[in-house]
Amino acid sequence: MFRTVVVATLGLTASLAYAQDAEISVANGARIAVIGGCHDCHTANYNEMEGKVDPATALKGNPVGFQGPWGTTYPPNLRIVAASHSEDEFVEYLKTFKARPPMPWYNVHAFSEPEMRSLHQYIVSLGEPGDPAPAYVPPGEKPKSPFAILAPPNMP
Ligand code: HEC
Repeated sequence: MFRTVVVATLGLTASLAYAQDAEISVANGARIAVIGGCHDCHTANYNEMEGKVDPATALKGNPVGFQGPWGTTYPPNLRIVAASHSEDEFVEYLKTFKARPPMPWYNVHAFSEPEMRSLHQYIVSLGEPGDPAPAYVPPGEKPKSPFAILAPPNMP
């Protein structure tokens, strides 16, 4: 009897947690942007601010780029990407896009559709898209904006 109750309770808790994950909402989008690591690169000073999301800069891209054998890439302003795609288009885009390093695009492909929709609603809710981040600079060309070097200096 006791065992049946425990098993039933665990099952219910699991399905409630699942229902919460599947819910499409701005709040879930905000959570996904944190646990997906999107702010780490696409929100300026996020790491320096120890994870405090500044609504003025959240997901507006980063003026500091990453340089490696692929050239110099700047995390783009995701508010512009979200504003220029309807929710359905954004889902299609997130399922299929690829980008240069260090963008972990393959991780984004693993999001469920409700997660992608929540992310779109969250990004749109952040407000004015603002200006684009600096453009990609190909290898051998000198960037005009700051960047961190990601290539290991002692590659064999
Ligand atoms: C390690 C840093 C890093 C992380 C973490 C990261 N990004 Fe990026 N992202 C980048 C960079 C750099 C680019 C630009 C790549 C290029 O120029 O090809 C980019 C590009 C993109 C693009 C393409 C934008 C466009 O203009 O077409 C999308 C969409 C994107 N990221 C979404 C996300 C999402 C969603 C997350 C969180 C799940 C995330 N990124 C996490 C660094 C990152």
